[in-house]
Amino acid sequence: ALLGNAGAGLAVGAGAGAVGGWAVAAPRDGSRSNGAPALGQASVPFHGAHQAGIVQPAQARAQLAAFDLTPGTGRDGLRRLMKGWSETAALLARGEQAGAHENQIALDAGPCTLTVTFGFGAPLFDKTGLASQRPPQLAPLPDFPEDTIDRSRSDGDLWVQIGADDALVAFHALRVLQQQASGLATLRWQMSGFSRTPGATDRPRTPRNLMGQVDGTNNPRPADPDFAAKVFADGPGWLAGGSYVVFRRIRMLLDNWENLPTDRQERVIGRRKVDGAPLSGGTESTPVDLAKQNGDGLLAIPVDAHIRVAAPASNGGAAMLRRGFSFQDGLLPDGSLDAGLLFIAFQADPAHGFIPVQRRLARGDSLSRFLRHEASGLYAVPPGAPQGGYVGQALLE
Ligand code: HEM
Repeated sequence: ALLGNAGAGLAVGAGAGAVGGWAVAAPRDGSRSNGAPALGQASVPFHGAHQAGIVQPAQARAQLAAFDLTPGTGRDGLRRLMKGWSETAALLARGEQAGAHENQIALDAGPCTLTVTFGFGAPLFDKTGLASQRPPQLAPLPDFPEDTIDRSRSDGDLWVQIGADDALVAFHALRVLQQQASGLATLRWQMSGFSRTPGATDRPRTPRNLMGQVDGTNNPRPADPDFAAKVFADGPGWLAGGSYVVFRRIRMLLDNWENLPTDRQERVIGRRKVDGAPLSGGTESTPVDLAKQNGDGLLAIPVDAHIRVAAPASNGGAAMLRRGFSFQDGLLPDGSLDAGLLFIAFQADPAHGFIPVQRRLARGDSLSRFLRHEASGLYAVPPGAPQGGYVGQALLE
């Protein structure tokens, strides 16, 4: 469905159609006679109350990266960087060229729903003399049981999430932003992700992850009355209307998972694989009934099922907007695939979002024996920039 305004909008032209949940504009030159809309021309405005890349559906391709400030960059340098990055992100979101750093990688392509989302990591505040502005919510995440975190692929001063429905468009944006940061910040880590391509299914559907599950069903929805309270931070002042994002690289032990018969896989999650319907009955969109018992008196959704342990009802109302991408990154030394989920969750406050939920999942979720958390990050995501402004302006001016 086409998402509403306030940073969630998609530009649509005359003769718009819908592909995979996205409204897309018909080509302006009318070059196609078969009525197929041109995916490339769909665009998401960079400017708005919230940064783009939070409430829009996850695109087909992602580039995730973190940068560290170069010694000496300081607050002035960071201001220059955020101004420059914001200008570039706005140009690319309109499908225009990148100016001085243009490298022709995405020439011929439209914006392809490109979004660029920026976040600030905890160390950035000390390095720029802004320690007093660092929100307490950016305290390091606790170590969870069974974590195997590689710090060289974690954390960082600046987080950049690039999403687009074309792989070249996403890579182009990353490369341009990296060049533009030259002398001010260097790349600390980079990962590539993917999700469903719009138009791949008969109708817009919730995507699947690499375990084959329908994933994203019970996310907060922008139309929910409490959506903003769950997802957007109300302060400190410079962050009002922003968010906190938790990132985790979660490798899946796919060989073990696929050895499990489908009915047991379904009890691990608490939903049917074929259509994502909860084991308490109904269809994908039927509310989950955690109290429902089968004829045998056992809970329809087992005590250790992922959707029970992760549910707001089990965690004092803790909620988050999950917007992850799958990854696939070659082979491990033992010959198994290095693949899984680049978990990304936006929330108003990690202490009432990711932290309590992951504490419970690490102890009592039957899915956790098929997962390894290998990289981690927590970043403050400033509000969106108005026309002519830049991301982080209220902190850096
Ligand atoms: C729900 C898979 C990690 C929090 C779900 C669902 C699936 C799923 C299939 C059900 C459909 C849906 O509502 O989206 C996975 C996989 C993971 C993973 C494969 C790791 C690779 C996590 C983590 C968290 C989390 C790390 C948070 C700490 C949630 C929440 C729900 C959910 C809050 C919705 C529960 C509800 O209210 O019904 N997940 N998940 N998941 N997951 Fe995960």
